[in-house]
Amino acid sequence: MSGGTETGRGTEASGGPVTVRVPAKVNVQLAVGAARPDGFHDLANVFLAVSLFDEVTATPAAALTITCEGPDADKVPLDRTNLAARAAELLAARHGISPDVHLHIAKDIPVAGGMAGGSADGAGALLACDALWGLGSSREELLEICAELGSDVPFSLVGGAALGTGRGEKLTELPVGGTFHWVFAVADGGLSTPTVFREFDRLAEGVEIPEPTASPVLLDALRTGDTTALAGALANDLQAPALSLRPSLAATLAAGTEAGALAALVSGSGPTTAFLVKDAEAAETVAAALIASGTCRTARPATSPAPGASVL
Ligand code: C5P
Repeated sequence: MSGGTETGRGTEASGGPVTVRVPAKVNVQLAVGAARPDGFHDLANVFLAVSLFDEVTATPAAALTITCEGPDADKVPLDRTNLAARAAELLAARHGISPDVHLHIAKDIPVAGGMAGGSADGAGALLACDALWGLGSSREELLEICAELGSDVPFSLVGGAALGTGRGEKLTELPVGGTFHWVFAVADGGLSTPTVFREFDRLAEGVEIPEPTASPVLLDALRTGDTTALAGALANDLQAPALSLRPSLAATLAAGTEAGALAALVSGSGPTTAFLVKDAEAAETVAAALIASGTCRTARPATSPAPGASVL
């Protein structure tokens, strides 16, 4: 897998702070299968990394501690439920060492927004601690820990574009033939991913759910960098449940479309909404219109693909 920074075996511990930059994601296709016996859902999940980034800095400390800065910092848990803390603990446990590290998160990705911000911090902390502690873990070892941390965490490490199958953690890298321009409308408050999946199950009761498969038209649009074709192929099975839980998102989707977006969809489990636009100029216009519409807290232009977790 490319898109991130490889850490080679035998890397020496630097001793100093290590900062890792990690991208957000949008799901350009999220096909959801029926609930499995373990409660998860099989997915055909086409991830695309976008240029909104968190930065995780690991510094030696007497014990595991976390701090966070950024506009949404007060919504980020600073205890062991934070995926960054769990990443440090899992990596340390594998190597029989103590996770004595201070993790500082500079948060720019919307919190609980369906853009894998928590997953990004997990992948970032993992790579930062691996470098700080001089462990030199292979990409495969890091991906294994990522999958243990959560379904979206492996993609945060890898970046670029990838098809996630299983519960989303089994990745196949995808070629992307151009730059796509987006606007992301950030909603007030978050949506819990398990709650959105439960709403999917409720809405799907008594309905035959097909096996999730990736759309060949969509994969082709990514490969050729064709924005118009991608706009026609965007699909998210979690959009209906997200809208059912948060009906006000319909007004945000409409505002972006009216402002000239080529396509609009809920990002992952929401409530962030994503608008695919023609170019950087259209992104500025649509972002300004979304903010003026009063249907979202803010709107952020971004591009894709973006590289995966990388040491700065
Ligand atoms: O893997 P992760 O911890 O990010 O998943 C959070 C929750 O989202 C799961 O506990 C489950 O409720 C739901 N989920 C799911 N099917 C997936 C991925 C996540 O039902 N493929």
